[in-house]
Amino acid sequence: MSDTMKRVYVETYGCQMNVADTELILGLLGRDGYLVTDTPADADVILVNTCAIRDNAEQRIYGRVGELKRHKRAGGVLGVVGCMAQRLGAGLLDRIPHVDLVVGPDGYRGLPELIRRAAGGERAVDVEFRSWEHYEDVPAVRTNRVSAFVTVQRGCNYRCTFCVVPMTRGAERSRNLTDVVREVEGLARGGVTEVTLLGQTVNSYHDGTHDFADLLRRVASVDGIRRLRFTSPHPNDFSHRVVDAMAEVREVCEHVHLPVQSGATRVLKRMLRRYSRESYLACVDRLRTAIPDLAVTTDIIVGFPGETEEDFLETESLVREVRFDDAFTFKYSVRDGTPAVKIKSHVPDDVAGERLERIIDTVRRIARSKNAGLVGTTHEVLVAKRARRGELLQSRTRTNKVVLIEGTLDLVGSYQHIRLTGTTGSTFTGVPAAVRRELAVIG
Ligand code: 5AD
Repeated sequence: MSDTMKRVYVETYGCQMNVADTELILGLLGRDGYLVTDTPADADVILVNTCAIRDNAEQRIYGRVGELKRHKRAGGVLGVVGCMAQRLGAGLLDRIPHVDLVVGPDGYRGLPELIRRAAGGERAVDVEFRSWEHYEDVPAVRTNRVSAFVTVQRGCNYRCTFCVVPMTRGAERSRNLTDVVREVEGLARGGVTEVTLLGQTVNSYHDGTHDFADLLRRVASVDGIRRLRFTSPHPNDFSHRVVDAMAEVREVCEHVHLPVQSGATRVLKRMLRRYSRESYLACVDRLRTAIPDLAVTTDIIVGFPGETEEDFLETESLVREVRFDDAFTFKYSVRDGTPAVKIKSHVPDDVAGERLERIIDTVRRIARSKNAGLVGTTHEVLVAKRARRGELLQSRTRTNKVVLIEGTLDLVGSYQHIRLTGTTGSTFTGVPAAVRRELAVIG
């Protein structure tokens, strides 16, 4: 591999934190003289930033790495980084023969050197946990000029029995508030107006002096920041201080993604979620009382070991009671090394599959009826990009609903006042709020 014009291609799977980590990886490698390419065939270094949360995520990545290997050049490097790398370690080198580099989420600082070693034919593996690592000095390379992810906390100290994250991202630690604020100030100077704070249980953020309420207030006060979001919170960490900050700070958007996982207290206990059905519902109530028109979305797992039909019906009834705006629904996936592996009474796959279909149906029906009720209302949207299909632009309300509007690309990054004119059940069409005529063509 020549030292000049080295090119790196990175493909990212999984959560928003992985997206943010890829931006750090590109920053690190950029500092080392790399150029970024979006064509794997042009790359000297191909990295896949991976997810280990469920087996199907990993299977997909195995398939993709298998495809990418044909783009690997002589002397080039094919690396697996992120959570799957951390989980499987050096074993990945044997499992996928063309892979020559394996680096976990705390090892990115060493990437330039590890890549050099891998290119020289060595096995380059780093899956050490570094609980101090925040990549504080690394300038993230962001492609989105309007909206930015900012990681404020890494790792997780909860021990949900189904979850691999404590094994892949290590112990919870928070960045210093002043470092986060300095980064956001820089983003705002560059034109970013919307920031999403990231952490595994982001509202448990604490830097030793400041809690998440302080962080929300301080970040929101940065000049130029107009929208502040965060993901994902844990129900037990919504202190009164945090809820008050959400209610009082204008910039904090009216949307919370609050994973419930199950509506049955018996199951929640076995999941070690540390709340009951009732206390989850009470948390949603507190948030809705404090923040009118709050949109609430969630994550749900069906088929957790020991989940009975009755337990499942409790999850369905919780979905009906909360009336979520949307939900990500998953079939439980066994993760080696997690405590839930030891729980007997496995739910047969066909039963779990059938429950998944039922919960998806319930979630969709409620979302559709809620969204239909919003048609005719007016919202401020932030225009994000050209929509995937057609000539329309994609924008988002403060409640995180996707709205397609007409307009030219120069509107990207602007805030518009729009009226919702129609819905597919999940996304909307809209027109400028001042315009009275109906737009018949879209929808
Ligand atoms: N099986 C299925 N879903 C899982 N999640 C986490 N671990 C598992 C697992 N082992 C889901 C949870 C979490 C989301 C990110 O992924 O719902 O909130």
